[in-house]
Amino acid sequence: MQATLTNKTVSTHTTMHAIVQDKYGSAEVLVLRDIEKPKIAPDEVLVRVVAAGVDRGVWHIVTGQPYLMRAMGFGLRRPKIKTPGMDLAGVVEAVGEDVTRFKLGDEVFGTTIGGQAYAEFASLKQDKLVHKPNNLSFEEAAAVPVSALAALKGVRDVANVQPGQSVLIIGASGGVGHYAVQIAKSLGAVVTGVASTAKLDMVRAMGADHVIDYKNEDVTDSGTKYDVIIDIGGNRKLRKLRRALAKHGTLVITGGEGGGKWFGGIDRQLRALMWSPFVSQKLTSYISLENREDLETLKDMIEAGKLKPSIDRTFPLAQAADAIRYLESGHVSGKIVLKVA
Ligand SMILES: NC(=O)c1ccc[n+]([C@@H]2O[C@H](COP(=O)([O-])OP(=O)(O)OC[C@H]3O[C@@H](n4cnc5c(N)ncnc54)[C@H](OP(=O)(O)O)[C@@H]3O)[C@@H](O)[C@H]2O)c1
Repeated sequence: MQATLTNKTVSTHTTMHAIVQDKYGSAEVLVLRDIEKPKIAPDEVLVRVVAAGVDRGVWHIVTGQPYLMRAMGFGLRRPKIKTPGMDLAGVVEAVGEDVTRFKLGDEVFGTTIGGQAYAEFASLKQDKLVHKPNNLSFEEAAAVPVSALAALKGVRDVANVQPGQSVLIIGASGGVGHYAVQIAKSLGAVVTGVASTAKLDMVRAMGADHVIDYKNEDVTDSGTKYDVIIDIGGNRKLRKLRRALAKHGTLVITGGEGGGKWFGGIDRQLRALMWSPFVSQKLTSYISLENREDLETLKDMIEAGKLKPSIDRTFPLAQAADAIRYLESGHVSGKIVLKVA
């Protein structure tokens, strides 16, 4: 067998198993195939992937929806990213000559919008990775990056949640939501989590002080006014959300599915930003990006026992399509993970 890597490396295989998509579509477009193992640039790390996270972002890349996303560089007719999957946890297999933060055998986790995680190996810039929290399994670590980074940015940076504030988290049982509940609690907020009936116990277990079952109650019509609303699920109209917001409260729109094939609800986020200067409340939104500093913060919170992933199910790599279907079903509590090795 011939070695593919000129850098410090321990593996000699030239190909690997990977999930590949040649076109946009539903989960069926994902197939398991042997492809060439990635090579690394001087500032990159080759990771032997042990587990990979599944999230709404991956679903968007697989389906190519909303269409607006295709125009944003993901490929108009066909996906530019052939191997999807952003979040991963694994072991360092090789390092480029400029890599200073990692050595062979280090246990790491991280994320890359450029895909690659649904494969046996992935090459990432060293800034996309940090060392795995010492109290998490690989599966748990792979469930963290994208969703917890979005929750941290939304709750801490955009909403600027302060101790004692009342915070309503809509979509509290999902990938982003279950982290948002824990982060808001760790900042000292009084948290109300909104979820469907079967998931209320899970939201309480994440630390929510109060829960609301949106199947039985209109969360925007109870008369309660919250200092902060983090809107992650349900795509409610802005005027309804504003009704549940204190006069000088802050609405942070993270996302929400069901907003249409073209814009996927982003028009609601843009309208919030446009209205905000003309009302007493702050209406805002954000896009969370890969961020090493915040990933380090999450690792510290996890090791301090302030944050914990909740995993609903794991699927083997070969069943990535089933994992995406399960995500689509909307029955997930917390996160889904692919077991790769
Ligand atoms: N802004 C950013 O940078 C950023 C980053 C990451 C994700 N996102 C977006 O955030 C959204 C959520 O992502 P996710 O990974 O957390 O998705 P997810 O795991 O599928 O969770 C979505 C949650 O929404 C809840 N939900 C569905 N319908 C609802 C309704 N009518 N009322 C209240 N809750 C409802 C579901 O709870 P039940 O099952 O209990 O109904 C589910 O737990 C997606 O649109 C995603 O694209 C944005």
